[in-house]
Amino acid sequence: MKLHEFPRHPLTFGPSPVHRLARLTEHLGGADVWAKREDVSSGLAYGGNKVRKLEYIVPDVLASGADTLVSIGGVQSNHTRQVAAVAAHLGLKARLVQEKWVPWDDPVNDKVGNILLSRMMGADVRLDPAGFDIGIRQSWEDAIREVEEAGGTPYPIPAGASEHPLGGLGFASWAFEVAEQEKALGVHFDTIVVCTVTGSTHAGMIAGFAALEEQTGVRRRVIGIDASATLAKTTDQVARIARHTAELIELGRDLRDDEITVLEGWAGDLYGIPVDSTMEAMRLGAELEAMITDPVYEGKSLAGLIDLVRSAEIPRDATVLYAHLGGQPALNAYHALWA
Ligand SMILES: Cc1ncc(COP(=O)(O)O)c(C=O)c1O
Repeated sequence: MKLHEFPRHPLTFGPSPVHRLARLTEHLGGADVWAKREDVSSGLAYGGNKVRKLEYIVPDVLASGADTLVSIGGVQSNHTRQVAAVAAHLGLKARLVQEKWVPWDDPVNDKVGNILLSRMMGADVRLDPAGFDIGIRQSWEDAIREVEEAGGTPYPIPAGASEHPLGGLGFASWAFEVAEQEKALGVHFDTIVVCTVTGSTHAGMIAGFAALEEQTGVRRRVIGIDASATLAKTTDQVARIARHTAELIELGRDLRDDEITVLEGWAGDLYGIPVDSTMEAMRLGAELEAMITDPVYEGKSLAGLIDLVRSAEIPRDATVLYAHLGGQPALNAYHALWA
C-alpha cells in the first residue's frame, strides 16, 4: 500500500478532532454517535474537506510552476473558497468560476458567505449563469485558456477537486487518521456517514478503509448520503474515483460493490435547497450539540444519519462516526431559514 509515499503539503492543524455527540445520541435512542470535524481542522479561511484534498494536490501545483489556481463551483461553493484560501496561503492567484448552481432567491446570495471570503482573499471571482453539474464544464476550460492567453500559468482544479487524479488521496489518509484516533480513544467506529456530491471525499474514504481492512481484516460500512439530487451521476463518480484511488495506492484488489454505498432520500429534488429533514437535522445539531451544519451538504447528511439511527438501519449496538465536512460560511446566504 503506497499511500504514505505520496507527498503531502500540510495545510491542516493536524488530525481533525473526534468527539462523542452525547445529547444527540441520547435524543435518538439508538446507535452511539460521534463526529470527526473537518470544519475546524484548518486555519485557512474556515477550513473544510477540500483543504485535506488539496494537501495532496499542492505538491503537484508547486512542481508545475503554475501561478494561478483555476477552479469552479456554485456561487456559494465551499470548494472555491478553499482554493482561494490555499492560493493566498501559497502566494498564488486564484481564478474562480462561480455558476448559479442553486435557484435560491436571496438578494445577498452572491455577496456574503463563501464568495465574500474568496473576494477578501483576492481571488478573481467571475459569476456564470449556468446551472448545477458536477462534471467538467466549458466555462472552467475557458477560464484556464483565458489565464494562459493573459500570460499566466494556470493549474486546473475541477469542481470539488474530485476529477483530479490525486483528489481521493486526502480522504484515503483520513481513514488511517481515524484508525489512530480510535486507538487513542479506545473506540471502534463500525459505520461512517459522509455527505457526497462531487464524490472524492466519500471515494477516498472507501479506498482508505479498504486498505485498512486489508491490514486488519475488519470491515466497516462507509455510507455516503447523496446531497446532489443527481444520484446516478454522483454514484458513478464515487465508484470511478474510489477504484482509481484504490489503484493509485496499490490496494491490491478490486473494490467490492458492497463497499460503494450512496443512499438517496435526503437531498430533496434540487441540489442546494433544504427540505424538512434538512431543517430538522440542522436544528437538532445546533440545539443539542452546538454543532452547526449547512443546508446544502452537512444538514442533508446529518438528516440521513438521524433517520438511519432512528430506524435502526444503523443498529442500536453500532458506533457511528459522522464526518462533518465544513460548509458553515454558506449559512449567511440562507439567513431567511431562521428569519
Ligand atoms: C461542506 C461540504 N460537505 C460535503 C461536500 C461534498 O464533498 P464531495 O464534493 O467531495 O462529494 C462538499 C463539497 O462538495 C462540501 O463543501
